[in-house]
Amino acid sequence: MLSIKDNEELTRVGPGTLMGDLFRRFWLPALLSRELPESDGVPVRLRILGEDLIAFRNSSGSVGIIGAYCSHRRAPLFFGRNEEEGIRCPYHGWKFGVDGKCMEAPNAGERDGEGLRSRLSISGYPTREQGGLVWVYMGPPESTPDMPSFEWLGLPSEHVHVSRWLQRSNFMQGVEGEIDSSHISFLHKEYADVGNNKSVRIASADGAPHVAIKETPYGFMSGARRSLDNRHYWRVTHWLLPTYSAVPRSTGTNFTVGGGRIWVPVDDDNVTTFAVSYRVDASLSSRELGLIESGKGFPPRATRTTVTLAGGQRIDTFLPDANIDNDYLVDRNHQKFMNFTGIWGANEQDRSLQESMQRGALGQTVDRSIEHLVAADAAIVAARRRLLKVARDLRAESISPVPPGDTYAVRALSEFSEYDDFNSFVSQFGQVMRAPVHNGGNQ
Ligand code: FES
Ligand SMILES: [Fe+2]
Repeated sequence: MLSIKDNEELTRVGPGTLMGDLFRRFWLPALLSRELPESDGVPVRLRILGEDLIAFRNSSGSVGIIGAYCSHRRAPLFFGRNEEEGIRCPYHGWKFGVDGKCMEAPNAGERDGEGLRSRLSISGYPTREQGGLVWVYMGPPESTPDMPSFEWLGLPSEHVHVSRWLQRSNFMQGVEGEIDSSHISFLHKEYADVGNNKSVRIASADGAPHVAIKETPYGFMSGARRSLDNRHYWRVTHWLLPTYSAVPRSTGTNFTVGGGRIWVPVDDDNVTTFAVSYRVDASLSSRELGLIESGKGFPPRATRTTVTLAGGQRIDTFLPDANIDNDYLVDRNHQKFMNFTGIWGANEQDRSLQESMQRGALGQTVDRSIEHLVAADAAIVAARRRLLKVARDLRAESISPVPPGDTYAVRALSEFSEYDDFNSFVSQFGQVMRAPVHNGGNQ
């Protein structure tokens, strides 16, 4: 459990909060590059870390992520004209560039001038496009960090599939589900159609894995050990600061496919989940792409739409088709005979629980002061401790929380071993879990 104070500090993300300051030290994905297909096209409304923003691609193809409201009288720039290297507010014609600087303020009359225009600027954050995503850095310019050197950021674009969708819970419920290895034996159990997913099949056989944690510069690796036919089956997931993951996609050391998620808070009550799937040795085939987009795993079945949040903000995002308003399309007959939940896809199963956990005083945030953790929750405890520690070290002593970019070049692994202790397993397979470090990556 966590105290009410720690739970609050762990989950609030607005400007000036402990965790909000931490997130603002990392490059974060903001949206998919393909959502801004053309220069001078339609802007996309975003909300990230409690800030209302718009993303737009200017005439020369650069992407700006800037404050959503005009500095004059706070009209929404979403309705602006995206023209000649900037977005122009339709109310009185003020114009802003991709850096948020005011380029023109035509109704400011005689007072119009350089000094005035720089005072009229709105927030504008640096962006870069890599791996099919637009990334944003919302922190102090002097602390701009390295990009994390994920393996998939160095691959040709046909090797990588990226997606995003809205989850209506605090981000930490998603992060905790990600590293919670014991739920796989229950929530994702299939009775009939387990297909080729050998890891799920093995995990289904033992619901009380031994969980071991190994702290690393980027976060930790968590090994869940299950016993099967007198052998030790290890499933190793990487958790990388602040909310990235690498999750095993297949069993064995012949690594070809990988994947993971990134959780970027919309605000305290909502999170955007980004999912990545990739092949290192070839382009993703149409069969693989079909499977990824079927909604059976990650991403869920989803529709691009505009959502009005509880505070009235409108955001352009992907809304899962199975969601809280239709009880995730639960089929109770299916639950009796086919799978553990009666809910179809793996992310749909995860969200059906994570979006409605018992709340306390913190909106869409679970009340962690009344939970009962067990040994299988070791990774969850480790993630909470690490996040609170690095955020407090940043606040108290200005210690940078950002690990070197090349430490992010890791691969997740599930494999059998004769070893029952995690350190020996890591010594045995450490090399397999390192990915080559690349310079830069695909667009
Ligand atoms: S409110 Fe935007 S120009 Fe007046
Ligand atoms: Fe899950």
